Amino acid sequence: MEKLNIEKPLLHIFVCVNDRGETQNGQKTSKPSCGPTIDLEELKNLKIRIKLSQISCHVKLTQTKCLGFCSPRGSIILLQPKQEYYLINSVKEIEDLIKSELSITTF
Ligand code: FES
Repeated sequence: MEKLNIEKPLLHIFVCVNDRGETQNGQKTSKPSCGPTIDLEELKNLKIRIKLSQISCHVKLTQTKCLGFCSPRGSIILLQPKQEYYLINSVKEIEDLIKSELSITTF
């Protein structure tokens, strides 16, 4: 194992996009998943906006599978390095969280 001495971002946001889909007989699975509740196109657009902005070296946005706190009420995100979990209902809430954490009004 090699420890990498890389510059750490101020924020690294992991967004669960896990989608359990349906069972083989077309029924919804009994356990909820985040994927169906988040707009992947909006998430992709936010990621592009971050990459093209002045905050690109400070903020990383990563799609991930199940973070273990599945909810039928929205999607789970993990904010690092604070190790805080949030339940969100829109990509806009991720954008608002970034602005709040960086104390900025736009990017
Ligand atoms: S499916 Fe998203 S936290 Fe489990």
